[in-house]
Amino acid sequence: MGFLPILRTREQMKIIHVIGARPNFMKAAPVIRALADYRVEQIVVHTGQHYDFNMSDVFFQQLGMPAPDVNLQVGSASHAQQTGHIMCKFEPVVLEKKPDLVVVYGDVNSTVAAALVCSKLMIRVAHVEAGLRSFDREMPEEINRLVTDQLSDLLFTPSEDGNRNLEREGIAPEKIFLAGNVMIDTLVRMLPEADRRLPADLPSRYALVTLHRPSNVDDLDWLGSLLSSLERVGHDLHVIFPVHPRTRQKIASLGIDPAKHGQIRYLEPLPYLDFLALQKHAAVVITDSGGIQEETTFLGVPCLTVRENTERPVTITLGTNVLVGRDTAVLSRELHRVLSSDRKRGGAVPLWDGHAAERIAKVIAGKAGAARPQGAEILSGKTL
Ligand code: UD1
Repeated sequence: MGFLPILRTREQMKIIHVIGARPNFMKAAPVIRALADYRVEQIVVHTGQHYDFNMSDVFFQQLGMPAPDVNLQVGSASHAQQTGHIMCKFEPVVLEKKPDLVVVYGDVNSTVAAALVCSKLMIRVAHVEAGLRSFDREMPEEINRLVTDQLSDLLFTPSEDGNRNLEREGIAPEKIFLAGNVMIDTLVRMLPEADRRLPADLPSRYALVTLHRPSNVDDLDWLGSLLSSLERVGHDLHVIFPVHPRTRQKIASLGIDPAKHGQIRYLEPLPYLDFLALQKHAAVVITDSGGIQEETTFLGVPCLTVRENTERPVTITLGTNVLVGRDTAVLSRELHRVLSSDRKRGGAVPLWDGHAAERIAKVIAGKAGAARPQGAEILSGKTL
């Protein structure tokens, strides 16, 4: 299907936003807000991939997002089942609502499932956070990124490496827009409020830990040695660890009781503002999350990423991120360095400025002829 520069000229363009898992919510929130400035009807579909209050609802509350118009309530299952359930339940929604455009976010199963449904129904897809590549096909998210980008008609990249990856994969340059990072839009907007949520009993110096990737938590031997290593860190530095549900299950299968935690302070998954406040004041963040690599770079907080690779290389070349791989010796060496004066100091990443969603909305509305009369010109080309 070729890309048409004008989608459909009509009074009001209809857009469906598909979100499903925790990192989608902070990416969609600024795009929905920015599109509210244009003549568009917006429908929010939550797939229900994440369903716990503290993995989903609390984010809607804190980010001031409209409640989803539709919840597909798919829940957890194997990859094929979860992706298939989302497709089966999303297709009738698309057929009923007849959107002009469906916007998908990030790299989760909800993203690829919605893109697949739309491509077969000849409904155009916009992918926010396109072009990121870890070049590691053992990561389920990498498969989701590759497929979603091939199926998308508008591809919004957070950094220039994304444009290069897409062009190398044969995506037509006129579909690609370097927009910047929508996750940073949310961070910039919410930071003043997050500052007011610092717990009174917070230690002056602490490491903040998050781990949930299958590569770290599904391999119980490795997870066990990682936790032992964090226990040792806890002798010198407080360790605060909000635990993802997947990780909690795995820690339980190791026979570790988080209530009798030794040196690590295990917490439930935290709401957005509370986690952001902890990130901003951390001496170091130890993580395998994609979004947290970006947030720490923006905040200038040292980040040690427990992965062999990253799809976000600018966080290393320009930011504060260091890959420590699957090696606890490297983790402790880098930790020592980070806590000394020898630590890596990051700089700003171009277009991570709090305005990425405005640039995205301008392109989307411009393509549909939905821009305000006094509003923007119709944009084309690959860089905004
Ligand atoms: C998903 C995304 C990952 C993202 C992460 C953020 C995919 C392939 N992976 O991984 O890219 O970084 O979300 O959190 O889409 N669970 C609950 N309650 C919930 C959600 C999940 O208990 O609200 C449990 C379920 O038992 C499930 C496990 O967590 O088995 C994993 O959930 P799932 O959505 O399959 O993947 P994530 O590991 O969360």
